[in-house]
Amino acid sequence: MQEKQLQTLLDSLTWTEKVGQLIQLSGEFFNTEGMAVGPQQKLGISDEILANVGSVLNVTGAEKTKEIQERFLSQSTHKIPLLFMADIIYGYRTIFPIPLGLGATWNPELIESAYQVLGKEARSGGAHVTFAPMVDLVRDARWGRCLESTGEDPLLNSHFARSMVNGIQHQFDSMGIASCIKHFAAYGAAEAGREYNTVDMSERRLREDYLPSYQAGVDAGAKMVMTSFNTYDGMPVTGNEFLLKNVLRDEWGFDGVIISDYAAVKELIDHGVAKDNFEATTLAMQATNDIDMKSPCYATALLPLIKDGKIDEELVNQAVYRVLKLKNDLGLFEDATRGASAAKETELLLHDSHRQLAKQVSSEAMVLLENKNQLLPLTPNQDKVLLVGPYGDNQELIGLWAVHGKTQDTVSILSGLKNYLDDEHLSFEKGSDMLDSYDFLGEFGAPKEMIDSLKMTPEAQAEALEKAVTLGEKADVIIYALGEHTMQSGEAGSRTDLRLPDVQRRFLKKMIALGKKNILIAISGRPLILTEEQRQMDAIIAAWFPGTEGGSALADIIFGKVNPSGRLSMSFPYTVGQLPIYYNGFKTGRPATTSNHSGRFVSKYLDAPNEPLYPFGYGLSYHQSQLSELTLSETEMTDSLTISLEVSNLSQVAGTDTIQLYIQDVVGSVVRPVKELKQFKKITLAGHETKTISFTLTRDELRFYTKSMAFAAEPGEFLIFVENGQQQVTAKFDLI
Ligand code: GLC
Repeated sequence: MQEKQLQTLLDSLTWTEKVGQLIQLSGEFFNTEGMAVGPQQKLGISDEILANVGSVLNVTGAEKTKEIQERFLSQSTHKIPLLFMADIIYGYRTIFPIPLGLGATWNPELIESAYQVLGKEARSGGAHVTFAPMVDLVRDARWGRCLESTGEDPLLNSHFARSMVNGIQHQFDSMGIASCIKHFAAYGAAEAGREYNTVDMSERRLREDYLPSYQAGVDAGAKMVMTSFNTYDGMPVTGNEFLLKNVLRDEWGFDGVIISDYAAVKELIDHGVAKDNFEATTLAMQATNDIDMKSPCYATALLPLIKDGKIDEELVNQAVYRVLKLKNDLGLFEDATRGASAAKETELLLHDSHRQLAKQVSSEAMVLLENKNQLLPLTPNQDKVLLVGPYGDNQELIGLWAVHGKTQDTVSILSGLKNYLDDEHLSFEKGSDMLDSYDFLGEFGAPKEMIDSLKMTPEAQAEALEKAVTLGEKADVIIYALGEHTMQSGEAGSRTDLRLPDVQRRFLKKMIALGKKNILIAISGRPLILTEEQRQMDAIIAAWFPGTEGGSALADIIFGKVNPSGRLSMSFPYTVGQLPIYYNGFKTGRPATTSNHSGRFVSKYLDAPNEPLYPFGYGLSYHQSQLSELTLSETEMTDSLTISLEVSNLSQVAGTDTIQLYIQDVVGSVVRPVKELKQFKKITLAGHETKTISFTLTRDELRFYTKSMAFAAEPGEFLIFVENGQQQVTAKFDLI
């Protein structure tokens, strides 16, 4: 409908109808057997409100959403369609690698294509909005939601935020769906990496490191923003006027819908900033939070607050208008299904072109961490290969947040290897259980008998180990498919011991005694502590949860069809005691390597290095490139300068490098990071090819929040570092 008609529609609504638009409920309230009673009573939601709810959480499927929509509209006075919103984070039915792997591609253009597929498939399944991308910056691998982030750098995360929003909303009227960026803001800075824990930092750090990726998503036109569970500066974000109103709406000009995270409005009471639903509702509405996801606050408190004149009616009207506008932008008043149909699902879901794209993305996401003596790539049907480990013949490769994906669609590692090895050259034995205990699954509601059935009996363990040893003795190469359990990462997946599970490390120790060539495939939703394995293994590949085509992508890398190009977007710690660890920290007054103080009295640990095991930007390839001839267009910069260098491929193997440009502002009015990523370029080189590449660095890129909190560049000396993931070349210039 025409936008001017929206105001007329708004004016025609009763307050009950208006409040209903600001409430989102999950599927059980809309089950096909009529309205559920249990949860409704539990939340204290009236029939009138229920009949006017504005949106539905995590219900998808063309037929199911159509049926619910039609039944709902048949009872709706003003025929305002439901919004269907869902967690479609890194794929709908074709599942791409987890975003921490997508970050390691350093290829926003490729990821934009992947998210176009996400949007198309989700739309065919009846979704109108996806709660993606998650663009929280992460620095602490203990936090389970590293899985959903593209990593620890504000610039790299901003590139991906932009590309994911553009992908999801691509050809919005015909193909795309609405993107909801989350979790605004700074959720990834939870103290001690403990889920839902306090976040507190200076406004400078917030603006320098944590806000850029959200702003990039907003600037890309994201239609919605989701609040985060955490506090910022003592106020939970869902009631935080500084963040939601001053920054998001007034500073950035965001006029879209803000939705609370799950029950976060009610949790203002648990945080201790509201004593009841009325105070929680007031705080959230005053902060301009529009939709209350799955909490009883707006549903039970808004009408009485309005009736008693205790809340500004204009606030409510503005919130309702934004929701109606989103529905109108989606064209729901004209077509509430947006073309979703079972036929469309059949046509699009898991389309072969989508699978091929997922395989390409997966192979670009994997990071080769070790390759001693150039063990990899293997030659097909040359060595006798034994595949072992709980992830060897396991389709659980899509990760916790692939909510609408199906593991049975996934290509396992064993299936992938069979693309290159015949039965004579490939054997498999699980060899080890995944975990010593699955009891933690009880917290997710898994019944005890199911949990008990997951665990291998001691006899089965012993037999599996014996078989693995016997097969290992005959093998030339052993590939270990190991890692954390799917449910050990993702939301509510904070952990303090990030090494491989004990049972797997015991198994590994026994198998390594065979003295064979060993390759570790690490399946995880976060950086694991691989310090032991770094010493023990000949080759290590960080494969993440690699998605629907994970097994085939991995095999392409192992046998050299793909030359690995992934570079870490998050540091892998040497030990959990280093956390949080990230590359762009400050020098401190006693830098470990340049301080004048004596050995002990510098910024370091007694029992661990300062450096991570594998740093941000690191990764190996099958070729070796060399950086040289670093040249600056001038050594004094006013508005911009050009940095050029040669990149040479020293081997005959073609390969792709990610050339990374960093700076250091040597002296600032406040301390400045030892390194800041400013630009990056992926380049492909043929064997023994040399290319000259250049970057144009501008004055604007040198801006930061100065001592007075002005966002400006300050004259002075700057260092330049150009890296390819293994080598670094440096230069300096003066900004005048
Ligand atoms: C969850 C998550 C959020 C998700 C929402 C809806 O608690 O924090 O990322 O989108 O609830 O499922």
